[in-house]
Amino acid sequence: MYFCGSFYSTIIMNILLLGSGGREHAMAWKIAQSPKLSKLYIAPGNPGTAQIGTNLPIAADNFDALKDAVLKNNINLVVVGPEDPLVKGVVNFFAEDASLKNIPVIGPDKMGAQLEGSKDFSKQFMFRHNIPTAGYLSVTASNIDEGIVFLRNLKAPYVLKADGLAAGKGVLILNDLDESISELNAMLGGKFGAASKTVVIEEFLSGIECSVFVMTDGKNYKILPEAKDYKRIGEGDKGLNTGGMGAVSPVPFADASFMRKVEERIIKPTVDGLYSDGIRYKGFIFFGLIKVNGEPYTIEYNARMGDPETEVVMLRLKSDFIDLLEGVAEGNLNDKIIEFDERVAVTVMLVSGGYPETFEKGKIITGLNAVEDSFVFHAGTTQKDGEILTNGGRVMAISSYGKSKDDALSISFANAQKIKYEKKYFRTDIGFDL
Ligand code: AMP
Ligand code: GLY
Repeated sequence: MYFCGSFYSTIIMNILLLGSGGREHAMAWKIAQSPKLSKLYIAPGNPGTAQIGTNLPIAADNFDALKDAVLKNNINLVVVGPEDPLVKGVVNFFAEDASLKNIPVIGPDKMGAQLEGSKDFSKQFMFRHNIPTAGYLSVTASNIDEGIVFLRNLKAPYVLKADGLAAGKGVLILNDLDESISELNAMLGGKFGAASKTVVIEEFLSGIECSVFVMTDGKNYKILPEAKDYKRIGEGDKGLNTGGMGAVSPVPFADASFMRKVEERIIKPTVDGLYSDGIRYKGFIFFGLIKVNGEPYTIEYNARMGDPETEVVMLRLKSDFIDLLEGVAEGNLNDKIIEFDERVAVTVMLVSGGYPETFEKGKIITGLNAVEDSFVFHAGTTQKDGEILTNGGRVMAISSYGKSKDDALSISFANAQKIKYEKKYFRTDIGFDL
């Protein structure tokens, strides 16, 4: 739909956002602030996104059903939240369909999504384009002996990664050589199914991590606010890995000089490398970085935004999000303006007791109306008979602004206390190391 105003022309659009987590609720919240939005649909969404737009009961990887919904609802732009539909080729599906090919999808095609979908692909890419990263060897059943020699020549700890997507569980960091060799055998023998038919063995890097995000139209890029997430379940960043227990933005150690190195050595070579490799990448790139003796190294790429990082990045993005998304779609991202909110943003994730191992669902959530000065982004929730129930490990992200990290955290923690459900758990030390 095009409406021309008397002076400026504004494109008003219907947007379909794919996904159902806290990341998508935060994106929906930001999209809905734009005067360029006509209608927002989310597939499948969650009870939080239902307050902002219209949820469609369609799985994000049910491409045929998405096609029907896009055509029926006159969707002008599709934004992909999670990696799964990207790795499965949702962008290719649209490009190859006569009735969908003119509807832009924000996200890389199947090949570009391999940056996340295959650790071996991403390591080869980084080495080909001289992007700083840990040394590695890719091992399959056919060169397992070489893999063992490679492990023996490394110093502990040993890093073993399943090549493919393994629901965030495919990375092992082990101190013992013999255990690493037996885990290598187990992984190649199918410990993570097809995802570990190839295993990437990496040199261990010691440093402090942060997440950097860009939007790219395939040639140009804009750097979004950086964030640090807290991946472990326990205080002090101890215990099992989770999807992420909280996040802070900005990251003090990602100062201007560090970010200049990140841009020159990592971001620009990545965007240029994708282009020169013939990959037309229009979407988000998530750089998982580590600062080692002041220098940035790439630990991993993701083909999407981070979760829970998005729950702080969206707060710090001052510019119109749809305007930037349009720049990605149209290839004129360089003409767009990106501005950040100067305040600190934090998020604290409320999870189900037991997560990331077994946990119960269906607990009634109360106290949401008592929340003050925070944004509650739903992740694993569902709605039944007018009540909001827990429906996943990560339940909701409580995001707040502050003049300082501590100001913002005290607001999020106060609200985290007010929200109640059986076996609620959250970390009270988010940002402790900054
Ligand atoms: P990835 O899925 O590749 O991001 O790995 C998961 C986590 O394992 C990272 O966030 C790091 O904390 C850790 N990790 C991965 N690779 C390395 C490495 N080469 N050296 C040290 N830590 C690593
Ligand atoms: N928070 C890390 C991730 O989204 O992968």
